[in-house]
Amino acid sequence: MVNVSMENKVVIVTGAAKGIGRAIALKMAEAGCRGLAINALRIDEQTETLAQEAQALGANVLLMAGDMSKEEDVKKLIDTTTQKWNGLDVMINNAGIAKANDLFNTSTDDWDQVVTVNMRSTFLGMKFAAAYMKDHGGGSIINMGSIAGITGGSTSPDYGASKAGVLALTKYGAKFLAQYGIRVNALAPGTINTQMIKRNFEHLKPEELKARLAAIPMGRMGDPEEVANVALFFASDLSSFITGDSLMITGGRHT
Ligand SMILES: NC(=O)c1ccc[n+]([C@@H]2O[C@H](COP(=O)([O-])OP(=O)(O)OC[C@H]3O[C@@H](n4cnc5c(N)ncnc54)[C@H](O)[C@@H]3O)[C@@H](O)[C@H]2O)c1
Repeated sequence: MVNVSMENKVVIVTGAAKGIGRAIALKMAEAGCRGLAINALRIDEQTETLAQEAQALGANVLLMAGDMSKEEDVKKLIDTTTQKWNGLDVMINNAGIAKANDLFNTSTDDWDQVVTVNMRSTFLGMKFAAAYMKDHGGGSIINMGSIAGITGGSTSPDYGASKAGVLALTKYGAKFLAQYGIRVNALAPGTINTQMIKRNFEHLKPEELKARLAAIPMGRMGDPEEVANVALFFASDLSSFITGDSLMITGGRHT
């Protein structure tokens, strides 16, 4: 039996209040990580419940509020985590937003917000996690891309562009950080059943929704846990010779 263990690892997951981030945090807890820092925009009942669930799986949990597009919040999250557990092995830059406006309805503010949250938070998370990891034995950084970063997406102009940026940052980071024993990979999910996708789909007519699902060869949305399983692979030593890569988790959809 192959056992994917995170036993000696300290992990940070950003934007983990719900959806994919939540599933990844629970997966890391289940895999036995040594310390689990859960970031969310705010601490509320939902995040307290998540922390309790992770603790019930045996994890030591740090729950921290913070806006990952702000440098001071990212630094604080990383400093607090590394001071608490004297280590940081895995940084998962999951925080992200999407807006469902087409080209003509995307304002300059919409553009700035989506690009800032999705790209800047990835840049900051990668930069400050790597700054610690490089002097402490390396690590694995996982960035949340999207199939939209490869195909351009079909809803809004800002989202795919921001995720293409995340995939480019991943490739840059992999090349620059390999010398320090740090791997950088990205996840590129397709349509995953979370509140983000529900918000994106709520304006669609029933026939449009049907067409979106029909475009997925496997004929269904993905489950957040199916993304978390890949995050576990990239986080663990099973992927020790993989860096600068991204994996599509799309049920076979490539366009
Ligand atoms: N659901 C999908 O189909 C899908 C597909 C591809 C990629 N993704 C990506 O996966 C990630 C998670 O998305 P999800 O589907 O779980 O959506 P979600 O809306 O359920 O979760 C996103 C989380 O990020 C948090 N967040 C947003 N801005 C933040 C900030 N500045 N600082 C800290 N946290 C912040 C939100 O509060 C939320 O908890 C995102 O990066 C998203 O772009 C999702």
